[in-house]
Amino acid sequence: MPPTDTTPEKGAARPHGDAPGIRFEKVVKRFGHNVVLRELDFTVAPGERVTLIGPSGSGKTTILRLLMTLEKLDDGVIWIGDDTLWHMDRGGKRVPANQKHLHEMRKQVGMVFQQFNLFPNMNVLRNLTEGPVRVLGVSKGEAVERARGLLDMVGLADKVDAHPSQLSGGQQQRVAIARALAMEPKVLLLDEVTSALDPELVVGVQDLLRDIARESDLTLLCVTHEMTFAKDISDRVLMFDQGQIVEEGPPDQIFGEPSEQRTRDFLQAVLAS
Ligand SMILES: Nc1ncnc2c1ncn2[C@@H]1O[C@H](COP(=O)(O)OP(=O)(O)OP(=O)(O)O)[C@@H](O)[C@H]1O
Ligand SMILES: [Mg+2]
Repeated sequence: MPPTDTTPEKGAARPHGDAPGIRFEKVVKRFGHNVVLRELDFTVAPGERVTLIGPSGSGKTTILRLLMTLEKLDDGVIWIGDDTLWHMDRGGKRVPANQKHLHEMRKQVGMVFQQFNLFPNMNVLRNLTEGPVRVLGVSKGEAVERARGLLDMVGLADKVDAHPSQLSGGQQQRVAIARALAMEPKVLLLDEVTSALDPELVVGVQDLLRDIARESDLTLLCVTHEMTFAKDISDRVLMFDQGQIVEEGPPDQIFGEPSEQRTRDFLQAVLAS
């Protein structure tokens, strides 16, 4: 982390291992003329769990996709721990990252998507072993052993041979969570992971994520409109709109007594929906 880092109290008080923090410094992202991130600044402390809320189309997924290197930034700097994600140091100069640097950096970050995004042509076990074997260079035997352990943890030990199309939405999302963890990320990004699920499947997936958030020392950045869930899993909530953070604070404060009118309007709209 750069020296100007301001570590939030609650996140810092939580014990953590070697999970790096995240820092956005004046990050700009445009799609054509649409400026989605306008010199966006925010920090997630090492091991801190942060929820990002904000209107549809405001750029929440874009923030996560930048961290996954699925989108390229236009300006500014993103830090993961002490390293810049999209830049590297060459003789004291900050230059655009090469493929090797991006590859090393993206290994630290895992993401669970709203629409699961499992590999449809692979069975459950292979969905979990493919990344570790191909990207991390883990041996097949070790990857299988770890995958079985993770499937056990998410309650799907009996589905190793099933294909994604044979699973319910809730089961697919559990596999997607296990697949993200199989890559042993230090930073986990969750993008509205229960919003595509039938209501009766939501609780099981949320319970699983609560356990993961409680028991791991991952740095967590979560996009969700489920306020109870956000309160349970996060140390801090960031309200994001029009390319910048509008306000931030502990979940009880942001959901209970937001100070900005924009946050109040947004929360009212969420409650009414
Ligand atoms: N690949 C793309 N090409 C062009 N425009 C894009 C692309 N991806 C996102 N956008 C635009 O960027 C803006 C932010 O999109 P993003 O998906 O990040 O919003 P969001 O906050 O995640 O919304 P939601 O709550 O609906 O998921 C939107 O205006 C969207 O149309
Ligand atoms: Mg989104």
